[in-house]
Amino acid sequence: MIPSVIICYSAHMGNTLKVARVIGEVLGAEIYRPGELDPREAIEKYCLIGLGSGIYYGRHHPSIIAFAERLPEARDRYALVFSTSGLPKIPILHDYHKPLITILSGKGFRIVGEFSCRGYNLHGALRLIGGMNRGRPDVRDLKRARRFAEDILRKLA
Ligand SMILES: Cc1cc2nc3c(=O)[nH]c(=O)nc-3n(C[C@H](O)[C@H](O)[C@H](O)COP(=O)(O)O)c2cc1C
Repeated sequence: MIPSVIICYSAHMGNTLKVARVIGEVLGAEIYRPGELDPREAIEKYCLIGLGSGIYYGRHHPSIIAFAERLPEARDRYALVFSTSGLPKIPILHDYHKPLITILSGKGFRIVGEFSCRGYNLHGALRLIGGMNRGRPDVRDLKRARRFAEDILRKLA
């Protein structure tokens, strides 16, 4: 299996960590928070780096963006990007993943896939109405995450 690592920040409800665990299980990847692994070490040890978090104010968490910015240039490395969010990701119109993908592509990473799904959101006034997307990510979301990771394994085999 290709040496893989996942860097995940999942502070709000632990939603993205659920997705990270499924992807990590399929890829045989260890999971770290952004502060727990040095980006240079990540490049030295792993061929595939997965980066994911909840979407906060329209983008990945700043610690995930900062991790990507600190990665050295790497022309022979792969990356995947994932997230959970209150509202669906809309390609082109409101693509939450774009800032992160722009950074990674700019450093030479080959982006092998993106995964996103809805996540339970209790932010701010939503708490007053019991939140949004209760129960997400659910079994179907996690099945989709599993298939996503299996497809990547096949792609890189
Ligand atoms: C401070 C904050 C800001 C958020 N901003 C957005 C947003 O801009 N767009 C969106 O779709 N969801 C937004 N959400 C909802 C989260 O993306 C969603 O609940 C996500 O699943 C949280 O992931 P986590 O539990 O892994 O942290 C926000 C949540 C919080 C707490």
